[in-house]
Amino acid sequence: MWFLKSPRNPNVIKSKSERDPIEKYSNKIYSPRGYLNGDVMRFDFSNSLSNMRPSEIRELLRYATATDLISFGGGMPNPESFPVGDLKEIIDDLILTSSKDIFQYGNTGGLDSLRDEISLMLKEMDNISASHSEINVTSGSQQALYEIAKILASPGDAVITELPTYVGAISAFSANKLDMHGIPMDEEGIMTDKVQSEIELLSGDNRKPKFIYVIPDFQNPTGITLSQERRKHLLDISEDYSIPIVEDDPYSNLRYYGEPIPRIKSLDRGGNVIYTSTFSKVMCPGLRIGYVVGQEDFISRVNLLKQALDLSTNTLSEYIAREYIKRGIMKKQIPKTVALYRRKRDLMLETMKKEFPEGTDWTKPDGGMFIWASVDSHIDTTEMRTRAMKNGVLYVSGASFYPHAEKKNEMRINFSYSSDEDIVNGIRRLSKTIGEELSSISKTA
Ligand SMILES: Cc1ncc(COP(=O)(O)O)c(C=O)c1O
Repeated sequence: MWFLKSPRNPNVIKSKSERDPIEKYSNKIYSPRGYLNGDVMRFDFSNSLSNMRPSEIRELLRYATATDLISFGGGMPNPESFPVGDLKEIIDDLILTSSKDIFQYGNTGGLDSLRDEISLMLKEMDNISASHSEINVTSGSQQALYEIAKILASPGDAVITELPTYVGAISAFSANKLDMHGIPMDEEGIMTDKVQSEIELLSGDNRKPKFIYVIPDFQNPTGITLSQERRKHLLDISEDYSIPIVEDDPYSNLRYYGEPIPRIKSLDRGGNVIYTSTFSKVMCPGLRIGYVVGQEDFISRVNLLKQALDLSTNTLSEYIAREYIKRGIMKKQIPKTVALYRRKRDLMLETMKKEFPEGTDWTKPDGGMFIWASVDSHIDTTEMRTRAMKNGVLYVSGASFYPHAEKKNEMRINFSYSSDEDIVNGIRRLSKTIGEELSSISKTA
């Protein structure tokens, strides 16, 4: 074809293998003439996503439903926890009574009556005071993380995170080209002394961090909970250095043991804390309802950005979430979900204790959905995934949760999604995998 050779068409390439690897994640758009010939146009992509890595978890989700594989990979709630009957009743009622509203465009800030319900719920359940205008309803808390990053920091700015941290936060911060400084954790959560020394160091370099991001309750990926003293210390640091805290809280309602520790936001005296949470783990993730709470001038910027992102969160989902709180269904559902996950957590920990080889260590979370395991330091869990898949089990390798993929011998194991039988069999398969990996290492040593 003449246009393939024409200097006026340098963007047309022939071979599929010549395409950018990220291309498979985007829709294929064919040049009309190239299409006929099976050729595609090569786009001149911007560099805005250049420091993002494809998520291992999203990749693994594809295998989560394969029948021969047991997946501890995705962070998925168990479908048994979805209140399907109640949701059907709510949706039927809404269609009967409010069809002119539920299918209409919504407010960028969020449905007013949903924000009122969230405000009441936050006061009652978490002792957080937030007026209507201090709340924005988001498409999951994932969207809130992206918005927070964009609004508080510019490309290249330093931010503090826990190490390891939530992979979706790494994506949201990388998409905004932030410079993540991870601070190690121990059994009490992020080491706040080290947060302070890192801030001192960066400030000395004229690079004061723009915010401190933490998941205080049953952290994803480690399951660790930040102690009360450290929460207070973090707040002191935030006040002393004028650095906002971003408190990401999807899991605090999923507590199986021990007493709740106050939300950092509930201790906030000066509006230092931006709080985000979600209906994903206490209702269902598919409706994509989350929310972010902060000072009014911050929330007005969230509204401005959201006008560019999606105009508003899904209106029907917002009405459903409103009714879910208003009718008291959420309060009834949480204890059921807690009982289900407590059983799964106990079963998994018990099986790990019986099966896992010596030299393997793991956290014993009081809530949430994840256990964090570390294996012999010679094992690279990213490489071990091939063997694990052959043995019919999946996990997420620890490196995914490090902004710079620093550590190799850890893995995140989800206990909420699998059946009880799969939990036992999957842990046996994983133990076998670790055992095989250990003996192949000792042979090559
Ligand atoms: C720590 C953390 N933050 C945010 C999210 C995003 O949740 P969603 O967008 O479903 O509200 C998740 C999801 O697993 C999470 O674990």
